[in-house]
Amino acid sequence: QTVYLKDYTPFGYTVEHVDLTFRLSPDATRVISRIRFAPNPAATDRTFFLHGEELNLISARIDGAEVSPEVTDKGLTCEVPDTPFTFEAEVEIAPARNTALEGLYMSNGMYCTQCEAEGFRKITYYPDRPDVMATFDVRIESDLPVLLSNGNPGPRGEGHAEWSDPWPKPAYLFALVAGELEARSDVFTTRSGARVDLNLWVRPGDLHKTEWGIEALKKSMRWDEEVYGREYDLDVFNIVAVDDFNMGAMENKGLNIFNSSAVLASPDTSTDANFERIEAIIAHEYFHNWTGNRITCRDWFQLCLKEGLTVFRDSQFTADMRSAPVKRISDVIALRARQFPEDQGPLSHPVRPESFQEINNFYTATVYEKGAEVIGMLKRLVGDDAYSKALDLYFERHDGEACTIEDWLKVFEDATGRDLAQFKRWYSQSGTPRLSVEERYEGSDYTLTFRQTTPPTPGQAEKAPQVLPIAVGLLNPNGDEVVPTTLLEMTEGEQSFTFPNMPSKPVPSLLRGFSAPVVLDHEASGEDKAFLLAHDTDPYSRWEAGRSLARASLIASILERTEPDAAYLDGLKRLVTDPALDPAFRALMMSLPSQNELAQVLHEKGVTPDPDAIFEAVESLLRAMAERWRDVLPALAEEARVSAPYAPDAEQSGKRALGSAVLGLQTRLDGGAAAKAQFENADNMTLSLSALGALVRADAAEDALAAFETRWSGDRLVMDKWFGIQIMLAPPQVAPDRTRALTEHPAFDWTNPNRFRAVMGSLAGNHAGFHRADGAGYEILGEWLSRLDEKNPQTAARMASAFQTWTRYDDERRAKARATLERLYEKPGLSGDMAEMVGRMLG
Ligand code: ARG
Ligand code: ZN
Repeated sequence: QTVYLKDYTPFGYTVEHVDLTFRLSPDATRVISRIRFAPNPAATDRTFFLHGEELNLISARIDGAEVSPEVTDKGLTCEVPDTPFTFEAEVEIAPARNTALEGLYMSNGMYCTQCEAEGFRKITYYPDRPDVMATFDVRIESDLPVLLSNGNPGPRGEGHAEWSDPWPKPAYLFALVAGELEARSDVFTTRSGARVDLNLWVRPGDLHKTEWGIEALKKSMRWDEEVYGREYDLDVFNIVAVDDFNMGAMENKGLNIFNSSAVLASPDTSTDANFERIEAIIAHEYFHNWTGNRITCRDWFQLCLKEGLTVFRDSQFTADMRSAPVKRISDVIALRARQFPEDQGPLSHPVRPESFQEINNFYTATVYEKGAEVIGMLKRLVGDDAYSKALDLYFERHDGEACTIEDWLKVFEDATGRDLAQFKRWYSQSGTPRLSVEERYEGSDYTLTFRQTTPPTPGQAEKAPQVLPIAVGLLNPNGDEVVPTTLLEMTEGEQSFTFPNMPSKPVPSLLRGFSAPVVLDHEASGEDKAFLLAHDTDPYSRWEAGRSLARASLIASILERTEPDAAYLDGLKRLVTDPALDPAFRALMMSLPSQNELAQVLHEKGVTPDPDAIFEAVESLLRAMAERWRDVLPALAEEARVSAPYAPDAEQSGKRALGSAVLGLQTRLDGGAAAKAQFENADNMTLSLSALGALVRADAAEDALAAFETRWSGDRLVMDKWFGIQIMLAPPQVAPDRTRALTEHPAFDWTNPNRFRAVMGSLAGNHAGFHRADGAGYEILGEWLSRLDEKNPQTAARMASAFQTWTRYDDERRAKARATLERLYEKPGLSGDMAEMVGRMLG
């Protein structure tokens, strides 16, 4: 069943207050609700429908009198007074049997909740929509020692606890946790002097992994005060780590719930990348307190209102905490790896979708990451000061409201006087715009002519020109910057910009900082790219010059069987050995375009990508790199060595990233000797795992994998890494069989989303392995998606997107992928989540 943005109407009633009592029991939890309703003056339709799914209704009352509502598997309706009234209900639910991990469920004996987007309806009958906001009082009855809910704590006694949340909120922000938990506690004093108690709750035994999370929380709280002027608004802030969780984390008011992989960290068990990701996710969830909770979404079509903005804010935070250029380049890599394929395939949808069947299928890279890019463009266009002014106005005008993208843009229009009607297309038009450029140098006028087109996407045949902020700098042939970064504002399908008085033809540095999320089709000469690689002042563009040389070399070796581009390797070598450059940046320079990206490039050239040939091309480029850099690798490895005690900061992480890239090359020369030594001597997970990865790639990891398993079999998060790495980096020919073998491993607890993703996500991430010609990769994934769908449709459906590029490949592969998808689609009892995803991919 499809829902449409255009059909929005407000609910017929407002909710003034909610009282909830939980009597916790694994198979028969009672939820007693008392909800104060009043007719909504802003609505005309007075139908009284409360969502409710998988609930056993015990009794219901209106103003104290027993009623018998009409109940379906979607909710209840009943006759109600036309004046304010109190609706009470008692329902029974079974958290221990909730394998979908949505609503109230159990994880390792602990009760927890996940209500976004529409999980509250599995807890009790309620208008489960974000535009219905209310204050909540919660009483929890249970013998478990720790009982938590939203807001501030109230009276606590033997076997019960009470919580009171003074801030009106939609039901999706409700949370409850009960279990045998321990906390690392701290205190934060807000800028205006209020004391906030901070707790990070974990299972006993995980306490040594909580320091980083608490520190990240304090940094986030301070940053939001300093940069956005936003203070926290309750007496306590609780975070809980949960092992079974469908997503990364959830911003429930005052009680954030995290996938343990997104919050627990220690140097022994977590990599530098884990530390950085945790810091960012803690910040993200914390920032939601203002962008999401105090100002929420009117309906789920507006999801990007809170997610795009909050991702943008957490990127700013990471840029401030670490290196801004490194963060920007990493974000571009992630966008191209995850959002571009989505936007250029059958799952393409606008940042603000106009219809959906299952909203959980729209927590996508497009809504989140492209949503954040759109805000970045807006900020570039209006400037930093106007952005701050607009945000102040947003918080002032809409605090306590459930808003739309129209509200958001209006704030910018009012704060800046700018007309954003055309800019709004970024929210409604799907697909990745392609930007091409022509240069002309006449007299002393240098002219850039841009053309933009967006290929058709599902449901959108015609595309209109979008507003593109194009940041450009010009360099003189001697390497000087003659025109520093200038923002060109493109609004037409084709548009020219002239720079007068140029003494000689400059080399353009285009789309600096990746100023718009487009594909730049710029056929610059190899010489110009090499020039930019050596001289560009913008770190992103400099990195991109190298990327584009690498891409060109790889494509040529695939199509024309040419040798790797030696000039590129030599230019890059100079850069990578330049001690003046940040090691993290040098590591990024060494990373190559993904095989998936190369497949897309070939596909766009009208060539059917051959995954094995792509894999071979990448391998031979890396071999050539190793050979040509043989003389400098030992010195680079030495430079990457960290002698200080482990710290996951930008400086040390950057060195280790460089070291890891260098080790990858060394392993191609020594067959694994250096990697074995590093594996044996590693005193932190980053070094250990990068060595293990190098060994897996070299197919020399048997002993190391066994030792790693013995050492870490008691740590679920580390074992996820063990499962993942040996599939992700396996030689493609063996990846499917190894996946199959690992599904038989006793520790393959496939109902745990992290473990399922570690195995199946890694198979999907091994490009040539997943697309192995005999279809084994497709079959394994299809089989397991089908199995998981019966228990946890949300995670299964999300993982199904691994098939989103299936139509790119040759007839044989296509036939096999199609057969797998069709088998899935026709399965009796398939979830709505999965049916929607597979249906869209089959077209
Ligand atoms: N709002 C959460 C976040 O981005 C994501 C939760 C989404 N959950 C879901 N089941 N779709 O921080
Ligand atoms: Zn979020």
